[in-house]
Amino acid sequence: MEFIATLIRVTLPNYLQSLPIPSSVMGIAKLTGSEWLRLVPVVGTITVLAYVTYQAFRKGKAPPSDLRVNLRIMKEASKVVNMVDIEDLGDKVSYCRCWRSKKFPICDGSHNKHNEDTGDNVGPLVLKRREPVAATK
Ligand code: FES
Repeated sequence: MEFIATLIRVTLPNYLQSLPIPSSVMGIAKLTGSEWLRLVPVVGTITVLAYVTYQAFRKGKAPPSDLRVNLRIMKEASKVVNMVDIEDLGDKVSYCRCWRSKKFPICDGSHNKHNEDTGDNVGPLVLKRREPVAATK
């Protein structure tokens, strides 16, 4: 503990006082090469600390809402999952991939307005039953 106390009370202040820190902006231009080298450890440490602090605060922020795809469907759920029995598909069905359909998960054509408004190019997933192959004789 004595070592840390000496480091903080004596060694670090003496080191900082010995640095060639200019007292004006114009003084920066007058620093010699060896003075710049003496500043490198301090400037590097300050830069790393600033970067780590910035990253710590940045990660805690929620993503902006404009990055979200789903704007209103089942927002109370942690994940939107729709199950469809494959036997209930019928001959053809279109599933929404733009998240704007009022009949979600079925496409209601809302993607057309979304594409017009945003310049996007999304469309539905269309599932279609294959035509039965005619038997050959
Ligand atoms: S309404 Fe969303 S893909 Fe058609």
